[in-house]
Amino acid sequence: MPVPRRAKLLQKRRVALLFYESSTRTRTSFELAAKSLGADTVLVSALSSSIEKGESLKDTGLTLRALGAECIILRHPNSGAPFLLARETGLPVLNAGDGMHEHPSQALLDLRTILSRLGRAQHTRAVARVPIDEKTLTGVTVTITGDILHSRVARSNALLLPRLGAQVVLCGPPELLPEIAADIGPGISIERDFERALARSQVVMMLRIQKERLAGLQLDLARYIERYQLNGERLRRYAPEALVMHPGPMIRGLEITSDVADGPQSAITEQVHHGVAVRMALLARALGSTAARTHRATRKARPA
Ligand code: CP
Repeated sequence: MPVPRRAKLLQKRRVALLFYESSTRTRTSFELAAKSLGADTVLVSALSSSIEKGESLKDTGLTLRALGAECIILRHPNSGAPFLLARETGLPVLNAGDGMHEHPSQALLDLRTILSRLGRAQHTRAVARVPIDEKTLTGVTVTITGDILHSRVARSNALLLPRLGAQVVLCGPPELLPEIAADIGPGISIERDFERALARSQVVMMLRIQKERLAGLQLDLARYIERYQLNGERLRRYAPEALVMHPGPMIRGLEITSDVADGPQSAITEQVHHGVAVRMALLARALGSTAARTHRATRKARPA
């Protein structure tokens, strides 16, 4: 059987996955994406490497580069860590989530899912023919609900989706969505009342309460569930047509109930599925022939 052309695109290129935080979806899909393009991958996780002994991010990156890594995929608890690693190593670094800052590949796969599902629902153009421009999501309201304060997924989506014309509504209690300036960014608004937000949404994105980042913040979970949980009754009543999304991992029974997560409006497993293709595109872009030539030239020019 002939090998698909894409399977040779990054043949024998070396991709390091450097994960300081746990991950199932992002790590696995980046690894599968790299392998699908023919690359060799290696996983370095904080708990089973010299990071545990105190090695710095810079030294870990330089070590990976010395071992032949040509691209690093980084998940890190500190905002800005991918920028630092790229600066210190000169390698392309793909951000797999940095602290409370950004999770750009998640936002891209969310966009891919929205385009795919909304296109199909309206029986309009196939997703491949949807033009990606500033009007693509005009008329689409996406409500992101839950732990906005700690969510890099919310931040990346709030930056990406309005660029295509979507209205992004952020929804949650003040503890998880503090009062901020009214003018928080183009296409972004705040609505505290979840049911009112649902009633105007074509897409509802639920977020996990990030207990690992709450750091002393007190949250009345029973009250949170009462006001912000996406359950079947609420969905049927206020958003019976809306697309339901969640970046995962989800806590069933807290921010979302199982009947919604597994129901016909849910696109949660599709989000995971789209992660591989989106991350293949990101790797191809980061490590494509131009990037490779630049990197080889940089390596030659570097003193031994
Ligand atoms: N959505 C997401 O980042 O999931 P993981 O933490 O499992 O990678």
